[in-house]
Amino acid sequence: MHPKDLVTSTFRQRFDKEPTFVALAPGRVNILGEHVDFNDGFVLPAAIDRATYIAFAPAESGSEHSTLVAVDFGEEASFTLESIATKTNTDGAALPEWATYPAGVAWALKESSLTVPAIQAVFASDVPRGAGLSSSASVEMAFAIAWQTLSKWELPPMQRALLGQKAENQYVGVNCGIMDQFASACGISGKLLLLDCRSLEWQVLPVPEDVAIVIADTCVRRKLTDGAYNQRRQACEDAVKILSQHLPSVKALRDVSVDDFNRLSDQLPGVVEKRARHVVEEIERSRRAIPLLEQGNIREFGQIMNECHASLRDLYEVSIPELNVMVEIAQSLPGCLGARLTGAGFGGCTANLVEKSVAEAFAAELAQQYEGKTSLKPEIYICKASDGARLV
Ligand code: GLA
Repeated sequence: MHPKDLVTSTFRQRFDKEPTFVALAPGRVNILGEHVDFNDGFVLPAAIDRATYIAFAPAESGSEHSTLVAVDFGEEASFTLESIATKTNTDGAALPEWATYPAGVAWALKESSLTVPAIQAVFASDVPRGAGLSSSASVEMAFAIAWQTLSKWELPPMQRALLGQKAENQYVGVNCGIMDQFASACGISGKLLLLDCRSLEWQVLPVPEDVAIVIADTCVRRKLTDGAYNQRRQACEDAVKILSQHLPSVKALRDVSVDDFNRLSDQLPGVVEKRARHVVEEIERSRRAIPLLEQGNIREFGQIMNECHASLRDLYEVSIPELNVMVEIAQSLPGCLGARLTGAGFGGCTANLVEKSVAEAFAAELAQQYEGKTSLKPEIYICKASDGARLV
C-alpha cells in the first residue's frame, strides 16, 4: 500500500475518525558538495519522489498529550511538552529512537516560542532508513508542517529547515549540517537546488532534459555511525583552529583556498589533513562544477562527481566496499555521466547522472552486475526531483 493510503487508513483504525490533514515531506539525493554543509560550502541536492507521509488531527480538546503512531515500526509514543524535556513518554519510559525526531521538532519549536498544539498523528515513509536519502530530515519536516498547520504561526521553509537541524543537533544529538532539512523543506519539482550554506541563499538549476538521476541502493544499511560523522566534523573544526593561526581570516574551511591548504597542510595531523583536504577540494570542485551545469556541460560535471567519490573514499573515508563496487560498475556502463555515493556514506545509495535514453538499460545492467559481484539485491530507480514538504 502507498504510504499515503497507509497512514490514512491506520489513522482511521487507531483514532476512529478521519484525519483532518495529510502532509508529506520528501527525502533528498545530493548530487555534489558532500560533507561540506557544516563547513560553509555549497551543496547541490534535489528533493526526491519518496517521502514521509503524516495523517494528523488536533488532540481531543483539553488534552496535552500528543499520540504518535509510527507505522513502519509498529509502535506508538505519547508525549507532552513537559515529558519531551526529559525525552520520555507520558508513562515515564524513554522515548523510542524514532520518536526523538518529532519530539525534537516540538522541542525546537517551543524553544523558539512557537506554539506546539497536542496532536494525533500517524506517519510512514517510503524513504529507506539509513540509506543516505535523509529519512530523518523528512520525518522532521513532515512534523513541522503538521504543527504549523494546526497553529496560527507560519514559517518560511528555510526557517522550518533550521528548526529541524536544531532538533537534530541539540535534541537527537547528530551534529548534521543544514542540507537535508533544506532540501526536504525547499525542494522544487524538476530542479536541483544550489545552496550556499554560509549565506543560506539558494537558487535552482534545471536537471538537463536528456539526463536522468538514477538512485542505486546498495541495500547495505548504515549503522551506529553518528559517532563517525561527528568525529569527522570535529576534525574539520580542528583544522580550522590550526589553519586560522596562520590565516586569521579563516572562519571555516570554505575560507581556505587549495593553494593555501597545500602550503599549510604539513601543520595538520595526518587524519585531520585528509578530512580537511576532502572538504577544501570538494568546495573547489563545486565552484568549478556549477558553471558547467549552468552551461549544460554535463559531461565535465559528471567527471567532477566521479572525483568527489574518490575523495570520499580515500580522504574523507566514508565509503564502504559495496558503494565502491556500485560506483565502479556504474562508471563503466554506457551513458553514465557521473556516479558517486550520496549522503553521509557508510552504506546506502549512490547518485548517478545517466543519459535518459539509456537510463532503463543502465539500471538493469547495474543491478545485475552488482548482484553478481556482491550477492546482494540492490534497488535501483529513476528518480524525479520533487517539491518540498507540504499538505497533500
Ligand atoms: C548527512 C547530514 C548532512 C550532510 C551530509 C553529508 O546527510 O545530515 O547535513 O552533512 O550527511 O554531506
